[in-house]
Amino acid sequence: MSPHLPLTDPAFVQNPYPALERLREETPLFFDTALNRTVVLRYDDISGILRDKRFGRTLTHLYSRDELGWPLPDPAQQHFDAFNGNHMLDSEGEKHTRLRSLVGKAFTPRRVETLQPRIEAILEERLSALGPEFDLVADYAEPLPVTVIAELLGVPEAERFQLRPWSAAIVKLYEPQFTRTQQSEAERAVVEFSALIRKLAAERRADPQDDLITALVQVEDGGQMLSESELTDTCILLLNAGHEASVNGLSAGVLALLRQPEHWKKLVQASGEGDPKPFRTAVEELLRFDTPLPMFERYVLEDLDWNGVSLKMGDQVALIYASGNRDPRRFERADELNLSRDPNPHLTFGLGRHYCLGAPLARLELALSLRALVRHAPILRLADPAALPEYGGGFVIRGLGRLPVRR
Ligand code: HEM
Repeated sequence: MSPHLPLTDPAFVQNPYPALERLREETPLFFDTALNRTVVLRYDDISGILRDKRFGRTLTHLYSRDELGWPLPDPAQQHFDAFNGNHMLDSEGEKHTRLRSLVGKAFTPRRVETLQPRIEAILEERLSALGPEFDLVADYAEPLPVTVIAELLGVPEAERFQLRPWSAAIVKLYEPQFTRTQQSEAERAVVEFSALIRKLAAERRADPQDDLITALVQVEDGGQMLSESELTDTCILLLNAGHEASVNGLSAGVLALLRQPEHWKKLVQASGEGDPKPFRTAVEELLRFDTPLPMFERYVLEDLDWNGVSLKMGDQVALIYASGNRDPRRFERADELNLSRDPNPHLTFGLGRHYCLGAPLARLELALSLRALVRHAPILRLADPAALPEYGGGFVIRGLGRLPVRR
């Protein structure tokens, strides 16, 4: 039987690691006929491809849809497609460089570092409101990243309740299969989300504030500015990218710690010492160990040979970051959690020109969330140790639906 990556199989989504290990050892680079893509499982291949200019997130900066023989766009998701065609994550070449540099000027690491006291205050408030038993996903992991990115951008409190449902609807279309209903919900979410950002941008032009939307409205580089649609689509990207993976990364990380309580106990000890470093290092390892965004794809931009596999312009490769992160050729005892692993060159934030722009924010949020949780709930445990918490949704954005815990 030819090898296959069972992306939509719930058992695979629940625990992909044994299957990934088998594939990585037996067929590290194979063409999956069902997915119509070459699947890449080893660390060196993935990192090599991410750094190679002959691969890109899109092809449309080089060829027209006609030249590529692509079908006509589906009118049922025209706003969704326009959004994706316009933000930096799905741009290449000059457009990507321009967008990344403009957004990077407004969304600086310094701006992120100033958020620490506010993040700590939000976490404090959240933890004091929690009872002895709670759902770590909905009650703890979710609220922070959404609040932080909303406050950072300057989305008023009255509008924030819509952000998570919009984002959840949009990201459904990144999975390999979706229904017509999901398609129309994603389309509606993009339209409504864009309308809100356009309204806020107009308000900030007239009355600038100390927030990221104002910074994005004003940002300029050699006479270049963001167009209206680039600004809208950047804000939607930041809101979506800015919380889905952080929520999933924290809850999967806490689950890994509660399953091996000796690690949790080490963090409890470290929390008394006041030095944040052990939490920063632990977060890197948790993100490696259970990767919240396990797979990203690239197009082949020109005919080439990769490690004996011939790839044609227009082909797609599926890069399995979750597999590279467990590759024993790169990580000693790759299947073991080692909270002191340092250096930890994991692939969780990508590599190369699309390296996660929000990594400093994600790292700060996760380290502070973990430290506050350990301090407030040193004897945290699974509410039902016999029940296996389920990873709902899909493989592309993989996360726990619920994580009932007791403190
Ligand atoms: C644990 C949390 C996060 C993870 C695991 C993550 C992961 C990633 C990865 C893997 C990429 C590159 C995708 C590829 O290789 O094709 C990426 C890109 C990006 N991320 Fe994140 N991310 C996280 C949090 C954030 C946050 C908090 C923000 C912003 C508020 C953010 C904004 C972005 C943006 C704007 C890009 C596009 C960069 C580009 O195309 O040049 N991410 N992220």
